Amino acid sequence: MKKLIELLAKEMAAAFERAGYDASYGRVNLSNRPDLCEYQCNGALAGAKAYKKAPIQIAGDVAAQLADGSIFSMVEAVPPGFVNLKVREDFLASYLMDMQKEEKMSVTPAKEPKTILIDYGGPNVAKPLHVGHLRSAIIGESLKRLGRYMGHKVIGDVHLGDWGLQMGLIITELRRRLPGLVYFDDSYQGEYPKEAPFTIGELEEIYPAASQKSKEDEAYKAEALQATYLLQQGCRGYRALWKHIMQVSVADLQANYQRLQVDFDLWKGESDVQEYIPAMVRDMQEKGFAREDAGALVVDIKEETDTKEIPPCMILKSDGASLYTTTDMATLVERMKLYHPDEILYVADKRQEMHFTQVFRCAKKTGIVDAGTKLFFLGFGTMNGKDGKPFKTREGGVMRLENLIGEINEEMFHKIVENRSVKDKDAKDTARIVGLSAIKYGDLSNQATKDYIFDIDRFTSFEGNTGPYILYTIVRIKSILHRYDGANDQKLLPAASSSEKGLMLALAGFGSAMEEAFAERAPHKICSYIYELSNAFNRFYHETKILAEEDEAQKASWICLLRLTQRVLETSIDLLGFEAPEKM
Ligand code: ARG
Repeated sequence: MKKLIELLAKEMAAAFERAGYDASYGRVNLSNRPDLCEYQCNGALAGAKAYKKAPIQIAGDVAAQLADGSIFSMVEAVPPGFVNLKVREDFLASYLMDMQKEEKMSVTPAKEPKTILIDYGGPNVAKPLHVGHLRSAIIGESLKRLGRYMGHKVIGDVHLGDWGLQMGLIITELRRRLPGLVYFDDSYQGEYPKEAPFTIGELEEIYPAASQKSKEDEAYKAEALQATYLLQQGCRGYRALWKHIMQVSVADLQANYQRLQVDFDLWKGESDVQEYIPAMVRDMQEKGFAREDAGALVVDIKEETDTKEIPPCMILKSDGASLYTTTDMATLVERMKLYHPDEILYVADKRQEMHFTQVFRCAKKTGIVDAGTKLFFLGFGTMNGKDGKPFKTREGGVMRLENLIGEINEEMFHKIVENRSVKDKDAKDTARIVGLSAIKYGDLSNQATKDYIFDIDRFTSFEGNTGPYILYTIVRIKSILHRYDGANDQKLLPAASSSEKGLMLALAGFGSAMEEAFAERAPHKICSYIYELSNAFNRFYHETKILAEEDEAQKASWICLLRLTQRVLETSIDLLGFEAPEKM
């Protein structure tokens, strides 16, 4: 369905034409003076030069064409040449009635759906999930849901870091602790045990211990590098251990992501694409893209227009080992082969920007990714503590995701119990739901590229621009709907007050807000939209005695308006990746 602003612009364009001007000047914007008007058109100012006329004269000509129309209730030409606009209440009500009949409300689904692959999450197997991975998961999940809502085919891939040195470190530490394990017996020919020789708890203790030792002890580090090498070369026992590490670790990761309501279609990782590397390298060499540089194999990717130094993309180290870039290139080989996406979007820390610049350029230059496929990097900023430094535990360590969620839920639980007499069990469930909104909204309401401060007090507040405030608004609507027992017709009467009209205008803006958020890959625009919508609703709510209204048709119309508000809000928070409780 057409967006409200498009309908207004169409009417405006026709008026320019009737007044003898070009229709292209009839563009309409949201007003930046809400005290004076709802929308405005600045086309007269733009057209003044072309027509050698004072803008106010053009604005006046156009306004005259629009008197007594069916769309605008006010059309005012004001100096120096604006046309200030207000929408007719009956037109607005009928627009919203059309909108509520549509499955996607005022969003127009893509005419040519694209296949979009989103690479997000990026946890490293065997290392605990920490807050650094939180942003990728939250932002990526939202963009995936938004893309699907727009009608695209979106594939989410977790892209595990499962092939690096951490594996060699764990194997080395295990070997030192339990040298008698069958995995370390080179002459062993039989089957390896099904059960892993460690639990997730042990694994989480082993990795940091090993990592610490390798920093202090050169020989230990050399052993870990050698173990990594042997693993990658296919050593049987190490492969079997690697499988155990994967099993135990991935099960834990899945539980964590589930708690965050983040879900991936593909659980692939760096290890899955190693098989593509030899042929990929050979091809780059044969086609003359790769050259040797001090023993290493590199691809030049500098461009004339570069304003800063872009180093060559390294494909193989001088010892023949592959790198982070190699694996990402090989992953592109596989993604093109299996999914042939129109677009691949990477959501990762913005400090990885150079890495992705290199990978993208190299992939395009070597033809691994064809011209028709867009590669896009969305780099996010750091999540900081109140001290402005990267978020840490009270003891100064890296904050584990689980603990962070635990802390938020605890805080939410106290607030909820303080607020009202909810039963303990219900309060715990509610705290989990509301807590998730606090974390996700706290993150998503900031522009992704910026750093932000993770402020538990602010994020869990029921007031202000927060997740809990949005949920509180939804719960308030649900409670009114619950108590209403009248007829449920779909008829909306024209707004009876300015606060009601404000709410209706906000609702009508749903489609534009979502489409803009998608086009700019900017979930924070969804947040700004629902914050304003919630404010508009609460203003209306405070001024209107809905259930006490005696005119049944009026009351039914308000109930219908509430239902639409609830639907728009719940759809929007679903796109952000969280949901509302029944009560709070
Ligand atoms: N595992 C990486 C990290 O923790 C993030 C992976 C991002 N995705 C990618 N295709 N490189 O830094």
